[in-house]
Amino acid sequence: MRYFPVIVVGGGLAGLRAALEVNMHNIPVCVLSRVHPVRSHSLAAQGGINGALGNHVRGSNDSVEKHAFDTVKGSDYLGDQDAIIRMCNDAPLRIYEMEHWGCPFSRTSEGKIAQRPFGGAGFPRTAYAEDKTGHVLLHTLYEQVVRFEHSSERADITVLDEMLVTSLAVDDGRCTGVIALNLKTGNFEAFQSDAVIFATGGSGRVYSNSTNALISTALGAYIPFKDGAPLKDMEFIQFHPTTLIGTNILMTEGCRGEGGFLVNNKGERFLANYEDSKKAMEVAPRDIVARNIQREIDAGRGFENSYVHLDIRHLGEKKINERLPGIRDLCIKFANIDPVTDPIPVQPGQHYTMGGIDTDINGASDIKGLFAAGECACVSVHGANRLGGNSLLETIVYGAIAGKSCAEYVSSLAQTKTGAEKVEAKLRDEERRAREIVAKDGDYLICDVRDELAQTMAQKVGLFRKEDQLRSALEDIERAKDKFKKVKFNAKSKSLSYNYEFINYLETEASICVSEVIVKGALERKESRGSHFRLDFPKRDDANFLKHTVARYSKEGITLSYKPVKIVKWEPKERKY
Ligand code: FUM
Repeated sequence: MRYFPVIVVGGGLAGLRAALEVNMHNIPVCVLSRVHPVRSHSLAAQGGINGALGNHVRGSNDSVEKHAFDTVKGSDYLGDQDAIIRMCNDAPLRIYEMEHWGCPFSRTSEGKIAQRPFGGAGFPRTAYAEDKTGHVLLHTLYEQVVRFEHSSERADITVLDEMLVTSLAVDDGRCTGVIALNLKTGNFEAFQSDAVIFATGGSGRVYSNSTNALISTALGAYIPFKDGAPLKDMEFIQFHPTTLIGTNILMTEGCRGEGGFLVNNKGERFLANYEDSKKAMEVAPRDIVARNIQREIDAGRGFENSYVHLDIRHLGEKKINERLPGIRDLCIKFANIDPVTDPIPVQPGQHYTMGGIDTDINGASDIKGLFAAGECACVSVHGANRLGGNSLLETIVYGAIAGKSCAEYVSSLAQTKTGAEKVEAKLRDEERRAREIVAKDGDYLICDVRDELAQTMAQKVGLFRKEDQLRSALEDIERAKDKFKKVKFNAKSKSLSYNYEFINYLETEASICVSEVIVKGALERKESRGSHFRLDFPKRDDANFLKHTVARYSKEGITLSYKPVKIVKWEPKERKY
């Protein structure tokens, strides 16, 4: 068994930033990641990162207060305002920190970090690097991690990739380590630690129509959940307005921020026909734009009943190559069209999990010694609808905050390196469970259970929801549970080395549970707010639902309770754009 004072689970932006912060406190830290860190899903973030830098004439009077207010309003007043103010306040500091670490942001003609308009602000607040912002941020942070991997300046950062964490060890309410499957060897390994930071990303792949990488499954939310960490606001699922038809690959909001149009089959910029988008048009917030695209498609004004056009041809080849080269490349490779000469066929697709592991403003969860940051967490800066450009920001701001509070927690412990027996016992449990899984010989394929459920989520728990559909989704989930008890382990090899059948099993189990949390939360929230739109309750209802949903796991089932939203500055108002 290996021991590290701090273990970070996940090698994306939030995980790496958290690890660096722990390292700045001179505490040894180990990052366990199922893929090499530079292949984390953070890499796929395209359009940019928000911060009130005020680097453009339009937007030069931007401020932390304006950014915070736009985020609160964008969240449909469900975001915790103390956490939002903290994030917006730290934004310039963290963006300049990345710049000083060498992040190659795009530049204004004066050499400042370039910013583009994104939804919710309407003026340039989103700093970017072409349309590869996540990519460059991730590489910049990874370089810093490598710098301190074996450095005499500070304690080591150790990075172990191809390590799939499958379980926590919790001893008397305190997290004392994790168990990981070494994907190379196929052996489980035990890691003892004084604290653990979860930074595993979102659960997007519970939906079939997601922009998320195949590694963005519900496992990261499920593992702490089943050990007692509540999940908060999971019913709030963001659908990005513009995903490429066929694959649901992200077509960045930057396309619209740079001036792209959304057009229906009559050649109209249809957003002008809707009250909630007629002013902000293509840079209205995502929930609004996504719904209005879907309304056009449902009304028969889309193409082939499934998409509208995102037209960037008028931007011209030079600007497209300069600002959106990745989009051009993706369109050519995955849709066989060139956006310089052809409109891009797009439809809304699952993009982001606003809810997650419930944390306080310092990233601490309900389990002592367990912290969380980034998309798997819910400190509640996005509320019911995240503004584009705030997710990258959250990863580096709250990654740093969780790293700091975790380091302080570890430094304050009277006794470290405890709970070894529990970790050992958990290791044996995981080995036993794996033997049972590979011996399964039932009637159903694991991948069929997973895929049917992902279809249910896309069809019945999507942009527009209503009671009968949600109840039908719950019935599907019950069926999935029954089938899951009768699956067969179909891979010929029972070795766990790169055994995707085994990983599918773990992920499907997680998906069933997390889908149930999403659907139950959606069913009980009898109002429309942000991304959660109930056709049977089309109005926001502050009197009854200005509150966070908190889901808890027990062997008997999932229970829901509620807790108040932190309103420290702005009273909820009607959300107009
Ligand atoms: O559209 C985008 O580039 C996505 C940005 C985000 O999700 O923040």
